This record gives sequence, structure tokens and C-alpha cells, in this order.
Amino acid sequence: MATRTVLITGGGRGIGLGVVRQFLDEGCNVTVLEKNLDAADPSFAALLASTPQLWAVAGDVNDPDDREAFLQGTIERFGRLDILINNAGVAPRVRRDVLEVDEESWDFVLDTNLKANFFLTQRSAQLMKAQQPIDGTRGFIINFGSINSYVVATDRVEYCASKAGVAMLTQVFARGLAPEQIYVYEVRPGVIDTPMTSVVHDKYTRMIEEEDAFPIARWGQPSDVALAISALVSGKFRYSTGEVINVDGGFHLRKL
Ligand SMILES: NC(=O)c1ccc[n+]([C@@H]2O[C@H](COP(=O)([O-])OP(=O)(O)OC[C@H]3O[C@@H](n4cnc5c(N)ncnc54)[C@H](O)[C@@H]3O)[C@@H](O)[C@H]2O)c1
Repeated sequence: MATRTVLITGGGRGIGLGVVRQFLDEGCNVTVLEKNLDAADPSFAALLASTPQLWAVAGDVNDPDDREAFLQGTIERFGRLDILINNAGVAPRVRRDVLEVDEESWDFVLDTNLKANFFLTQRSAQLMKAQQPIDGTRGFIINFGSINSYVVATDRVEYCASKAGVAMLTQVFARGLAPEQIYVYEVRPGVIDTPMTSVVHDKYTRMIEEEDAFPIARWGQPSDVALAISALVSGKFRYSTGEVINVDGGFHLRKL
């Protein structure tokens, strides 16, 4: 297989960093658009300094110029866009009841999780469409949903709404881009052990250990999500698009 180029937003820590490691291990070129490079995991800086196949742009997914610099910089360095992974996401800065949420928090979450995902996907797909297919595809796009696209959290309506929106983006792009041989999937993590969930670590540990909410009764790890994405773009799902892969320890399975 030709060396593939993977683009990921928010790859400096958490799940994104796990995905970066996975694809570097597989011999891919990896490029990262990361807003908080200064606050990235120290191991990310070490990887960046020692790995010529890894390139990072300090930028914001919400800024059209940063998105374009990311895409054009990737093409200049590595020649192609093979796999776009829309991982960057935010939770509300303050959890507030649905009756107290303000417009600033709504815009912060919806812009990053949904609007930026849409416009980065749109522009990437325009560029992928112009590429020659390799192994039957011009590109893959992976979106990050969440169990909160269907599980209500009354203190995080912005997050729930943004992830429900991502579920539909995935379907619209999958339908529209299939004739271009560009395949689109959603990964839907459950609770994964990252800086994002560190503020509610005890609550989720209780759900896992005492409340029987997760059939596979352990915290998810970034590597669990990274391996699922690796499988999705392996070429083994060549007659599937628009699929949702739950990476949630079976949380979505209801039991009476
Ligand atoms: N951790 C979980 O349990 C969980 C569950 C479901 C879904 N998710 C989703 O998985 C994705 C990754 O989550 P995580 O837990 O690793 O989060 P995290 O907060 O640990 O890491 C997110 C990364 O994205 C970067 N980022 C944030 N805003 C950005 C912006 N505007 N531009 C560029 N980079 C930006 C951050 O700097 C950080 O490096 C998110 O989309 C999140 O909603 C996470």
C-alpha cells in the first residue's frame, strides 16, 4: 500500500494523540491542526521533534485561514489528503442547566464541534475529489460523534446538540461523496480517559464500577478509538459508507 497521509484536528492530547500514534506506527504521514500546542501532552512535542512524518500547525479549526493553511501545508509536504479525522472538540466551559445556557457557550461549542467540522470537511472533500483514486478511494473522512448525540445531558445541551448535528453531517456527506469514491464514517466514543473527561472522572468511574452502565466494564482508552478508526480506513469496509461505529464498551445496548 502507498504511504498514506492522515490529517487530524486536535491531535496534541487525548484521543487525538492516540490516533496520531496509531497512524505513525502504521507508517503514515500525519499532520495535525492544534489550537493549544503549548498545552499539548509533553509526549506530543517529543514526537514532533523526532518524527519527520509528523507535521503540526498551531491553529484554530474555527479560523478559515488556519484550516486552509493546514490543508495546503499538508499537500505541499506530503502530496495528498488521504484521511481527514475531525477529532477536535470541546465541552462547555461551564456546565449549566438547559434554562441557564447563554449564547456565548452555545456558539463556542456549536462552532467548534459542528460548524468547523462541516467547513473543514467541505473544503477537504473539494480537494480529495480532484485526486486520483488509490486502492479504490479518493479519501476517507472520519467524524467524532458521541453517546451524547442520543443520551440527554440537561447540563450540556450545547454538546448534545453539536454531536447530534455531527451524526447528520456524516450521513449527508456520506451520501453526497460516495459517487466521488470518498467514504465518510462516524466514530461514537463512550467515556474515554482523556483530559476532557478528567473533570468528571469519579462520576464515570462509579457508572463503570457500580452502576453496570458499560457491559465492557472499564474506561475506554484513546487507543481503543484509534484502533477502530484504523479498521475503518483499512479498506476492509469497501462497500460501506455513512456507518457509525460505537466505541463505548457496549454502552448503547439497552437492558431491562
Ligand atoms: N473523552 C471522551 O469520553 C469522549 C466521548 C465522546 C466523544 N468525544 C469526542 O472526542 C474528541 C476528542 O476528545 P478528547 O476527550 O480527546 O478531548 P481533549 O479535550 O482531551 O482533546 C481535544 C483536543 O482538541 C484540541 N482543540 C480544541 N479546540 C480546538 C480548536 N478550536 N482548534 C484546534 N484544536 C482544538 C485541544 O487543544 C485538544 O488537544 C472530541 O470531539 C470529543 O467531543 C470524547
